[in-house]
Formats: sequence, structure tokens, C-alpha cells
Amino acid sequence: MAEQSGLIKGLEGVVAAETALCDLDGANGRLAYRGYDIDELARQASYEEVAHLLWRGELPTRAQLDGFCAELTAARPIPDQLLAAFRLLPKKADPMRALQMATAMLGTFDPDATDNSQEANLRKALRLTSQLATAICAHHRIRLGQEPVPPSKDLGHAADFLFMLTGERPSAVNVRAFDAGLILYAEHELNASTFTTRVITSTLSDMHSAVAGGIGAMKGPLHGGAGEAVMLTLKEIGQVENVDAFVEKALAAKRRLMGFGHRVYRGGDPRQVILRDLAEAACRQSGQGMWYEMAVRLHERVNRAKGLIPNVDFYSAPLFYSIGIPVDLFTPVIVAGRMAGWTAHIIEQHQDNRLIRPRGQYTGPGRRLFVPLDRR
Ligand code: ACO
Repeated sequence: MAEQSGLIKGLEGVVAAETALCDLDGANGRLAYRGYDIDELARQASYEEVAHLLWRGELPTRAQLDGFCAELTAARPIPDQLLAAFRLLPKKADPMRALQMATAMLGTFDPDATDNSQEANLRKALRLTSQLATAICAHHRIRLGQEPVPPSKDLGHAADFLFMLTGERPSAVNVRAFDAGLILYAEHELNASTFTTRVITSTLSDMHSAVAGGIGAMKGPLHGGAGEAVMLTLKEIGQVENVDAFVEKALAAKRRLMGFGHRVYRGGDPRQVILRDLAEAACRQSGQGMWYEMAVRLHERVNRAKGLIPNVDFYSAPLFYSIGIPVDLFTPVIVAGRMAGWTAHIIEQHQDNRLIRPRGQYTGPGRRLFVPLDRR
């Protein structure tokens, strides 16, 4: 019998790493990146400023930001071989699988791939963040039978993403909403995917491998995949008048309602509050107010009936949908946002590494005599 361990299922409440990146106060529903409140960052900063803050420790000055944006812009193109690989994939290939493949493949081209030094990791974080945005859009267009739109040199990160996706210059309102969405997804302490990247990093593996693992963890419907599920739920409901009957039926069937509940925030997810405002503006501006109204009613009914609170993936669904993001790209978009946080955690883990290796509590049979194959 193995020694008894203090099993904590799902590692709930376990503190597994020190981090200077994100201050998550679940009891009071507050979130700050390196001391800056998420509300101020989402409403006033750009994704590039937040990436600089997470990677370099401080918000950039104007001059620093100009140089940093130029580096991000220069890193946007992806190798022709990756575009060729996208063309070889089945048209129905899941964009998250394509993204995982792209990450591994970009590692084979990266000159710093196996260098885990701080300087190399900063270069890789910047490069991979830019390249994955390009890769998401290129794969999407190729699967639709369209040519990829090359990155633009005169657009910021959020605007260029929307441009590469659609081939059209996005409106200022949509760029602002999308930029804020990316910021709100940029970092969130030791969530499942970030923890995955830190576990992989703790073996002294490299950044591309850790990010590929993070993408695998992000894909699941209990994590980043919830946003897509929220939009599919809203489509299933169809119209505001159907919400009450849907909730009644869903609760009677003990159905898990996507976009509700959170392991850490018990009183409310602060990101949800900002996303709700953004979703309202974007849905109304695009003439799709019904998605917002349906979401609000669903929120109220579920909260009243079960006390569950919406999480970050709830209002981001109508927001992304109304600015033209296809539903099965919601999770890749979350990855695009989370790149800054994952890579910052990978850098932090390398700075003070110890192999992450928890124990399992054995529940199988006791010791048994081996029976050779021909006597079984
Ligand atoms: N719908 C219905 N019931 C729920 C939900 C939900 N969304 N969330 C929690 N509950 C209920 C559970 O049934 C359980 O009830 P019980 O005690 O009567 O059995 C109780 O609340 C506790 O639920 P757990 O699953 O144990 O809570 P946990 O902390 O493990 O899970 C999680 C958190 C996974 C986020 C959960 O709330 C969930 O499945 N939500 C839906 C998926 C989702 O939106 N995920 C995105 C999270 S944010 C992010 O990752 C970006």
C-alpha cells in the first residue's frame, strides 16, 4: 500500500507556484496584471502594452511601445511551409488542432527553439504571439478555400488580426472591442492551460512545446472551449422568448450550462462585467442586439434559479460573434489573447524552476503474483 497522501481533487485551492504576473482575488472578484486593475487595462491600454507589461514587467513609454510594436509587426509573417501544411489538412480540421500543429512546426523554424535563456525566451514570446495570430487567420481562410491575407504593417495587433481574418479594414469600434477582449484573456494565474505550460516548462522543455500543450488544455469545454459552447447554446435557444423554457428544461435535465461557474471566483468574475458592456455595444452596433438580450436574460434566469455567475466566456461569445469571429475560432482567439500570459509564465517558471511532479493516491489492487501469458 502506497503512503497516504492528502488528496485534493482537482487541486482546488492548492498554491502551486509563486507568480508576480497576476493578482487574482476570487473572494472579492478582483483581478490585476502586475498591479494594474484589469478594468483600467481593458478600457485604456492596447494588447501590445499589456504584453510588454507581462513580459518586461512595466508598461512601456511611448518610445518603448513604438519599438516594441515594430518588433511585433516584423514578426508576423509565417513560413510558406506552414501555409503549405495548412493546405494539406482536411477542410474540416479543428482550428485548435491546426494551431497546435502550427505551434510545433513554428518551433522547427525558430532560431531560438531550444534556447531557454531569458533573452531567447523574450524573443520567442514576441515572435510566437505574432505568428500564431497570423496562423489562426491563415488556416481559417485556407479551410474556406480562400487565400490567406498577409499581415499589414500599419495596423496594431488587434486590428491586423481582424484584417487578416476578413481581408477588410475593421471599424474602430470593432478593433477597440477586440483589443479589450484580447487583454481580458491575456493572463489568468494558474488556470488549467497556464498550469500545463508551467508543468511542461518545469521539465526544462522549450517554449513552443509548452505552448502546444497549453493549446491542448485550452481546447476543452470546461476551459476555453466554453465560449464556443455558449454561442451554440444561444443559437439553440434562438430567441429571447425561449430563454425561460430553455433554462427550466436544462436545469431539470441537470445540464451543465456553459459560460457559468468558476473554480476561483465565487462572487463574480470581473472580466465578465467589462465584456458585458463591450458585448452590448458591439451587438447593438452590428444590428445583432438579440444575442446580447438573450445572453442577459439567460444570465438572470440561471443566476436566479441556481445562483451561478457568468464567467469570462459568457459575454465574450456574443461579443466575438457580433464582430464577425466564426464560432469555432472563439477558442483560437482566446489562445491569441492568452499567448502573452502563457509565455510570461513560461519565462517566470524558467527563472526559478523546480520540476512539478505531484503524487497520485493508488486505488488499484494490492500486490499480485504475475501469471505467465500461457497460464492465464
Ligand atoms: N452549470 C450547471 N451547474 C454547475 C455549473 C454550470 N456551469 N458550474 C458549476 N455547477 C454546479 C455543479 O453541478 C456542482 O453542483 P453540485 O455540487 O450540486 O454537484 C457545483 O456547481 C460545483 O461544480 P464543480 O464542477 O465541482 O465546480 P468546479 O470548480 O470544479 O468547476 C467549472 C468550475 C469547470 C468552471 C464549472 O463551473 C463548469 O463546468 N462551468 C461550465 C464550463 C465553463 O464555463 N468553463 C469556462 C471557465 S472560465 C475559463 O476557463 C476561461
